Amino acid sequence: MTSKPICGVWFKTSCRWSKADLVGQVKFHVNGQVCETDSDPTTPLAIFLRDSLNLRGTKIGCGNGECGACTVIMDGRAVCSCLVPLGRAGGRQIKTVESLGPPDDLHPIQQKLVERGAFQCGFCTPGVLMSVVALLAETPQPSDAEIRSALQGNLCRCSGYVKLLEAIGEIVREDLAGEAA
Ligand code: FES
Ligand code: FES
Repeated sequence: MTSKPICGVWFKTSCRWSKADLVGQVKFHVNGQVCETDSDPTTPLAIFLRDSLNLRGTKIGCGNGECGACTVIMDGRAVCSCLVPLGRAGGRQIKTVESLGPPDDLHPIQQKLVERGAFQCGFCTPGVLMSVVALLAETPQPSDAEIRSALQGNLCRCSGYVKLLEAIGEIVREDLAGEAA
């Protein structure tokens, strides 16, 4: 099954919550580390990651589930963290772009994008990376249509995605997916 870009769509179908769900301390894992907080559970996860955990690789563009700049991986699925209230992160495993690799030791997917000149701007690239990582972890040999589908929630109006799609195609052909999970 293909990872779906779940900005907006995911929110509408799965992220229904009530205040009652969100009371009390929230405990979850971020990049393998336990995180426990009594912050306002209605805080968007994207804001919490950036402002409280200083994980500023996660960007906030629209704040509305439209652009994908805030994409993180939650329990293996790419989600828009601007749409996830902190209280819904309880018990989850969250991965942000910081989990991939430091600048001097890039993840193979990051490295491939650099080699192929497929990096876009610093605003959209983190979200793109997390969508690609989630896709390849679930579907190591995606079709072109599945790749395009996985990226449809990551918007960029200033490039054509061509180099990006070419680079992802190479990642698939070179079977780097095993290193993506
Ligand atoms: S900031 Fe979350 S989708 Fe745009
Ligand atoms: S939004 Fe990043 S390159 Fe267009």
